[in-house]
Amino acid sequence: MKTTISEQELYVLSYYRACELAGSILFGKLAFHTNIDAYRVPLTEHCLEEAEHAWRWTKVIHDLGSIPLKVTHTYQTEYGKLFGMPENILEIFCLTQVFEKRTLDQFTKHLQLPNTHPSVKEALQKMIDDETGHIGWIRTEIDKYGRDSGQEKLDALMQKLEKMDEEVYQKLSQTEPFKTYFKEII
Ligand SMILES: [Fe+2]
Ligand SMILES: [Fe+2]
Repeated sequence: MKTTISEQELYVLSYYRACELAGSILFGKLAFHTNIDAYRVPLTEHCLEEAEHAWRWTKVIHDLGSIPLKVTHTYQTEYGKLFGMPENILEIFCLTQVFEKRTLDQFTKHLQLPNTHPSVKEALQKMIDDETGHIGWIRTEIDKYGRDSGQEKLDALMQKLEKMDEEVYQKLSQTEPFKTYFKEII
């Protein structure tokens, strides 16, 4: 089969796939270990949807005639380097919230790139729809925490994470192939 995507695009899509897979693994572990009954169902569903996203990127890449590249250094790896190990589920929820917002923003930008293959566009749109749902259920849990345990502390944490995310995103934007691939939009 002849490949129809450039090396740059293959890397970008493989990176997306790796980040989705990392998300699925994380949520799978949380669903596996959580002691909080109310979280067991949504965490499992979240794991499933991130796995579906990873599969969707895998299939898109494969259908376009390539094999996903091995990418193990993901966006979340950079969070880990700057933030360290989250200490509790609230920190994981807040990190996820910031990450999902970034994903949503990135996919929305990616959709504006000219000459994007229709199957890539379709995948982006499907994920934009799903990520909106992910942000929703996690927002509800974070808001509950804010009401019960103090909004100020929560706001401070979110601000810290948003600043960190901006730093990670700027760094990624300056790294090839992202720098060249997205030069018109980021
Ligand atoms: Fe996802
Ligand atoms: Fe998500």
